[in-house]
Parts: sequence; C-alpha cells; structure tokens
Amino acid sequence: MSETLTFLGLESSCDDTAAAVVRHRPGHAPEILASVVAGQEELHAAFGGVVPEIAARAHAEKLDICVEQALARADLRLSEIDGIAVTAGPGLIGGVLAGVLCAKGLAAGAGLPLVGVNHLAGHALTPRLTDSVAFPYLMLLVSGGHCQFLLVTGAQEFRRLGGTIDDAPGEAFDKAARLLGLPQPGGPSVEREARGGDARRFALPRPLLDRPGCDLSFSGLKTALLRERDKLVEAQGGLTRQDRADLCAGFQAAITEVLAEKSRRALAEYMSLDPAEPVFAVAGGVAANKAIRSELETVSRDIGARFLAPPLALCTDNAAMIAWAGIERYRQGGRDDMSLAARPRWPLDTRSPALLGSGRKGAKA
Ligand code: KG4
Ligand code: ZN
Repeated sequence: MSETLTFLGLESSCDDTAAAVVRHRPGHAPEILASVVAGQEELHAAFGGVVPEIAARAHAEKLDICVEQALARADLRLSEIDGIAVTAGPGLIGGVLAGVLCAKGLAAGAGLPLVGVNHLAGHALTPRLTDSVAFPYLMLLVSGGHCQFLLVTGAQEFRRLGGTIDDAPGEAFDKAARLLGLPQPGGPSVEREARGGDARRFALPRPLLDRPGCDLSFSGLKTALLRERDKLVEAQGGLTRQDRADLCAGFQAAITEVLAEKSRRALAEYMSLDPAEPVFAVAGGVAANKAIRSELETVSRDIGARFLAPPLALCTDNAAMIAWAGIERYRQGGRDDMSLAARPRWPLDTRSPALLGSGRKGAKA
C-alpha cells in the first residue's frame, strides 16, 4: 500500500482525553498535523487516584470537543480523513467504551474505515512515529500504569521480555510522595527532593534483582520506605527536611538501579538478535526523571544501542500514537467493524504469561 494516509486517532483509556491527526506519505517521515490532550487531573485530585466513573463521564463529555479541536488545528474536515483509529483497550473500561462508541459514530457517519488499536501498541510504536526507527527495537514502557520491556519486531508483533508483577514505577513514585506528604504527581516531587539527599543513608531493597529475567516489582520498596518513615517519626516525632530528601534520594536510587539492571538484561537478549541498527527506546512519564533517564542512556550506550526518548508529550498518553498505530495496522490490512469491542485487558504478547493485578490506572495489560 503506497497511498498517503491521514488518520484521526482517539484516546480515552485512562485520565487523558485525546484526539490527533497524523499523516503518512510512504517514504516520508510521519507528520503530526494536530494533537489535543485534555487532562482530568483536577477532577481526580481530591480522591488520590483516578476514579473510573468520573473519568468515563469526562471522556464522554470531552471526546467530541477534542475531535473538533484536532480537526480545526489540522485544518481538515472529517471528509478529508482516511480512517479513524481508536484505543480499544487495555484500560479503564468506561473510558475505553466512550472512545470506541465515539469512533464508531464518526466512522459510520462519515463512511470511514475503523481501526481498533491496543494502547500499549500505541506507546510501543511511538519511536517509528517520531524517529522512523526500523524493526526490531527494544522498548521500555515506564509510567504510572505500565512497566514492561517489549521487543518490537513488527507493527503487530511484540514480545514481552518482562514486566512489573505489582506496581508500575510511576505508581510507586506517587505512593512514596503521598507517604512523605509531597504533592502529586509524585515523580517530579520525589525527584526534586532527592536532589539534596543522600541516597546511601537508608538501606532500601532492590526487589527481584536476585532473580533471573526481566520481571520487576516495586510494591515492597514502598513498604520499606513506609517502615523507615515510621521509625523516624517514632524516634523524633516527625521528619526533617533532610530526612525527606534522603528518603527520596534512596527511593529514586533503588528504582533507578532496578530499572538499569533489568534493562541491561533485556538489552542483552535484544542484542542477541543482532539488529542492524540497535535502538533502546523509553516511553512513559517516568522517563522524564533525569537520574533514571541518564542511567538508562549509559546502560544503552555501554551495550552499543542508540538510546531514544521521544519528546515527553509523545511519551505520555496522547492520541497521535494511536492514529499512528492505526495507520501501521491499516497498512497491514487491519480493519474493524461495528462489532469492535472495548477490552479492559489486552496483552500485546499473548504468548507471555499474563501480568497480574489491576493498577490504579486500570489493568496492567
Ligand atoms: O505516562 P504518564 O503520564 O501516564 C500515566 O501513567 O498515566 O505517567 C505519569 C506517571 C506518574 O505516576 C508520575 O509520577 C510519573 O509518571 N512521573 C515521574 C516523573 N514525572 C512523571 N516519575 C519519576 N520522575 C519524574 N520526573
Ligand atoms: Zn499509557
């Protein structure tokens, strides 16, 4: 298929309502003509986490507005679009359903093809949208909802080398911040505090480093942090600024070390495929952490792979990645009809054992 394709993408699987228009002319780099993201942070702030019912209602209210804005910014009418791509899972089911219903309405109304996209495939294919990276490449998704190593060997071929067996790292950062009375989202708060801290003062665990493979675990780390905090509170009646900084530094160092070592293992497996142009890409909000990012970059360089971190706006949830994944799937003949179902769980790699647990932001996969 060599035609130019312009796709409208919709995303509503968690707490961001998004619409985007992406155009791809074969032989050229894809172009993001518009990308609109409406967050819901203020709606959930009082509850300390995403409330699925509130999220679903907000998506249903905002999707049309986001679509209108995206089309206006791209200066296109719906009739000039070639297809509609929509996140059909995994995620919070009410939100996914709102997106799928909206996409079906648009596709039926305008007589356009409908392509259901796996949200994780959207993240995983982003390096091709931003940097036209060739297969196979290694991807680490690290966000508030996801944590997995993916070997991307084709637009619809993913092998999961490992993932978290409990919390995602962003979720762990958020919980740590809450334990220490720091503002949400926790990642940036913990990173800020950690700057003035001594990472060696507290002996926090490095979960699963003693076991082979690329699986990760972060919930024990949070419990260890809680224990250290409680010991200090008991001994001195509260936390000093320095205590807080040291706890943050220790926590961040533990997460960094675990991610670095597991990345080393995943990279070794990837490099055994002898890729012509080795690439290690990261996506997800946690990739914004400077300490983590620079450690991953070092690991990647040491092993001879190019390190790639897409711009943050395309690392976190957005609809440009969904439009792009839709184009990739469509070019391989992927089509859906009005029977397209919204799926709360949808692992990218069905051969790997299922990831357990349902995170704060919906199912892990
Ligand atoms: O990719 P993202 O926006 O998507 C969701 O999971 O929805 O990631 C958000 C997560 C939050 O948990 C946040 O605390 C974390 O990414 N995060 C960070 C940093 N910035 C955001 N974690 C560590 N360090 C940061 N600088
Ligand atoms: Zn996501």
